[in-house]
Amino acid sequence: MLGFRRDAQGAAHLGGARVSDLLARTSVGTPAYVYDLDGLGEAARALEASFGGARHLVAYAVKANSAGSVVRTLAREGVGADVVSGAELEVVLGAGILPSRVVMSGVAKADWELDLAVGRGLHAVQVESLEEIERLAARARGLGAVARVTLRINPSVEIDSHAGIATGHDEAKFGIALTDVGAAWDRIASAPELVGVGVSSHVGSMLLEADPYLRSARAACEAASAGIAKGHALEYVSFGGGFGIDYGGKPAPDPGLFVRGGLGLLREQGLSALELVIEPGRSLAGPFGVLVASVVQSKRSGTRRWIMIDAGMNDLLRPALYGAKHRIEPLEREPSEPNWRVVGPVCESSDDFGEHPLGAEPPKAVAVRDAGAYGFVMASEYNGRPLPAEVFVSGGTVTRVSESPGRAAWVKRRLDA
Ligand code: LLP
Repeated sequence: MLGFRRDAQGAAHLGGARVSDLLARTSVGTPAYVYDLDGLGEAARALEASFGGARHLVAYAVKANSAGSVVRTLAREGVGADVVSGAELEVVLGAGILPSRVVMSGVAKADWELDLAVGRGLHAVQVESLEEIERLAARARGLGAVARVTLRINPSVEIDSHAGIATGHDEAKFGIALTDVGAAWDRIASAPELVGVGVSSHVGSMLLEADPYLRSARAACEAASAGIAKGHALEYVSFGGGFGIDYGGKPAPDPGLFVRGGLGLLREQGLSALELVIEPGRSLAGPFGVLVASVVQSKRSGTRRWIMIDAGMNDLLRPALYGAKHRIEPLEREPSEPNWRVVGPVCESSDDFGEHPLGAEPPKAVAVRDAGAYGFVMASEYNGRPLPAEVFVSGGTVTRVSESPGRAAWVKRRLDA
């Protein structure tokens, strides 16, 4: 596997090249996200191979990282997409993914987004309520088209993950309650402009074991069997994404574990004829991005040692939002004691990345690891801090740079407001 490595001198490498050299070949400065496209492609190939010969679709959850270079890399490996907005749909189609390999999720798809999905002929619109079934039918009727639809169920399964990323329990806004599944199939059967093609589920994110995933998948199988019993010619089930990665705390299983478990369940349930769809985001993109930041200031106050970096919660929100911990290490040497408390420049106490082993003297720059998923995509411009740059690496060289919109654009936009 490619990804993050250190050379004999201890300098950080990504995608087979020294990160500081890669950045020096651009003019973007810091903060900047750097991505290893070869590592990403390799992870996609390994995941594809884990299906053996079984019918399947890896629908990459584009929300994790919607950069064109990332989506095109995955498209080349035969990966499809799970989108949650019309804009994401336009990106994946523009990046060369066929509409028939795209599914659309989301609890509040706007009319124009439903129209776009139906008009482009997606693999399916994954509806999340009985009411959405009505609206989808009306939109399809208006277009004179037939909409392919799956029921996204709420599997009623609790997971051991942060509450903010658990989606399959009874209090979550997502999905159709299991008690409403029968009514949903009946409604689809009575709407000539709808064709029921499957069931989808997504129990939540950062799963470190297969058990809750497979309990959710079992509920999806039961909903699918109920649909088949009512005469729907179903084509697929989606068990969703959620495969965890190792952020330096607990090890995560290989995503193949979830795939093999899912295929076993389909066999057990007599549903092997169906295509198995999965929707991984983090496990593909997460390990193959680092956020590089410069140290702006260090301070010792009482017994504490602080390091202030030029990346903040506006650039990487996960620590502030979920208490997530990303390893932060010196860019040019191995991590070592003592620990420093690393914080960003934003005027919020939650702009805090935690304690990290940065050595006796503060480094000039740091690498925030495993920032390839839910990093840039969740960035904001809070505190007058423009969106960060992104640098894409393949074959040990920079293949594309997406510059920060910059300070001047931010100032103009605010003045014009
Ligand atoms: N499918 C659906 C319907 C989803 O809602 C999600 C993620 C996925 C697939 C992909 O899940 P993954 O394989 O990436 O775990 N911002 C949070 C994660 C939110 C995930 C939302 N839904 C974070 O930074 O941890």
